[in-house]
Amino acid sequence: MNAIRIAPSILAADFTRLGEQIAEAEAGGGDLIHIDIMDGRFVPNLTMGPFIVEAVRRVTSLPLDVHLMIIEPERHVANFINAGANNITVHVEVSPNLNRTIQQIREGGANASVVLNPHTHASAIQEILPFVDMVLVMTVNPGYGGQKFIRQTLPKIREIRTMIERLDHTVYNQTIAIQVDGGIDTQTAPLVVAHGANVLVAGTSVFRAAEGVAAGIAALREAVGAAH
Ligand code: DX5
Ligand code: ZN
Repeated sequence: MNAIRIAPSILAADFTRLGEQIAEAEAGGGDLIHIDIMDGRFVPNLTMGPFIVEAVRRVTSLPLDVHLMIIEPERHVANFINAGANNITVHVEVSPNLNRTIQQIREGGANASVVLNPHTHASAIQEILPFVDMVLVMTVNPGYGGQKFIRQTLPKIREIRTMIERLDHTVYNQTIAIQVDGGIDTQTAPLVVAHGANVLVAGTSVFRAAEGVAAGIAALREAVGAAH
């Protein structure tokens, strides 16, 4: 089994001191910085654009993991890559030409990943799976931080793990990660890992941790029994 990676989500950070908060996440052993882009269309909320990604790029050497919760993501992919994104994740629900969008991300020089909403069946990614670096399984409905983990998504994580294992690895030899996002804390992290997830996005449990960002990351790691 691969090592578990933790992706602090800056949506829950204190934006009046974003640079400091990212430095705390990096020093505390975060593996990637998760940035939630929302357009007020695909999801009800509005958040950040390439301008913030570019600012974050200047304060950390960690990979930037950009989660696009936007319609027509193909129109914005190049801007996010130019801003410094290392991975771009697009929702399968918004892309009739998903394969082309994935290709576009790769040609831009970033890793390419797909994400499924809680109501989207694992089979929706069967044909795109061999083309992606990571599959994100939403464990809340996208749009807001601090929501309750949806337990019913757990079997889907296992199903996707099985789909990855069944790929013909003589043809597709890349390793495909499984990321989870939403309501990940010390209680839910062991569950998602037991079902096959290996990249944990965490906003509230990291940036709002009572004892600070580093303690939040350490607690998650301890919960899944993974030393850094
Ligand atoms: C939700 C976002 C998440 C969010 C998770 O739409 O995609 O990345 O920041 O926040 P928590 O960890 O607080 O559930
Ligand atoms: Zn996210």
